[in-house]
Amino acid sequence: MTRERERLLAEAVRQACIDAWREGYEAASMSGLCAEGALEAGLSAVQNLDLTSVFALGRIPQPAAQTQVAKFDGFDVRHATPGDWSGIWSFFRPIVEAGESYPYPSDISEDAARAAWMDTPSATYVAVRDGRVVGSYYLKPNQPGRGAHVCNAGYMVDPAARGGGVATALCVHSQAEARRLGFRAMQFNLVVASNAAAIHLWRKLGFEQVGVLPRAFDHARLGLVDALVLYRWLD
Ligand SMILES: CC(C)(COP(=O)(O)OP(=O)(O)OC[C@H]1O[C@@H](n2cnc3c(N)ncnc32)[C@H](O)[C@@H]1OP(=O)(O)O)[C@@H](O)C(=O)NCCC(=O)NCCS
Repeated sequence: MTRERERLLAEAVRQACIDAWREGYEAASMSGLCAEGALEAGLSAVQNLDLTSVFALGRIPQPAAQTQVAKFDGFDVRHATPGDWSGIWSFFRPIVEAGESYPYPSDISEDAARAAWMDTPSATYVAVRDGRVVGSYYLKPNQPGRGAHVCNAGYMVDPAARGGGVATALCVHSQAEARRLGFRAMQFNLVVASNAAAIHLWRKLGFEQVGVLPRAFDHARLGLVDALVLYRWLD
């Protein structure tokens, strides 16, 4: 087993433990158990975790081709490195502060943002133009275990670079990467109904609207607005 494969396996096991703990904890909390009981339920869910599901075909991502660079018109798309974070944060912060497209808290700390965008996902990518990060996306399983063949992705483009096809390229790239990593479908869980550019884009790129969550997003300017669930099977 290569070093990279070992790292990916360790990461898949770590993620499965976190997911199992969270599921156990949340189920116990919702059933009214006290905080201590819920913590124990989380731990026992980890102890009872059947790791064979983690080893099943397609659950462990294939080694990432870290050095591979995809060329688009005027920019490259490649895996993000730790040094890319400051570039991502420069647009992540204003996008989240605006409170119009992502449910992260508007005052999210830089560490929490980095963990959510760079550390927790299976993989994170950047679009780079003239040495500057102008967009980014991540891929991660949308659910643990039996739902892990469906991935979730998040995309952000620097406001200064919008309208130039960066998100289109990122989404096309993400579909190929998702297939390569063993995912079979993609799901967007909370596309804000007022986010016209995103909805136009995702539909154009093959996503089907499978649900509307009434007033599920607390928009900073518009108040409670609907959110769409979009889905695309990866042929
Ligand atoms: C949504 C977002 C990722 C798009 O990035 P982008 O690089 O500008 O996207 P592209 O240039 O590839 O494509 C934009 C498309 O939206 C269209 N568009 C732009 N504004 C629009 C609007 N108000 N209504 C409808 N379509 C619109 C453009 O015409 C273009 O479509 P076309 O290629 O068919 O002409 C970017 O605006 C962003 O980062 N927004 C904040 C974060 C976000 O919303 N992420 C998505 C969460 S689901």
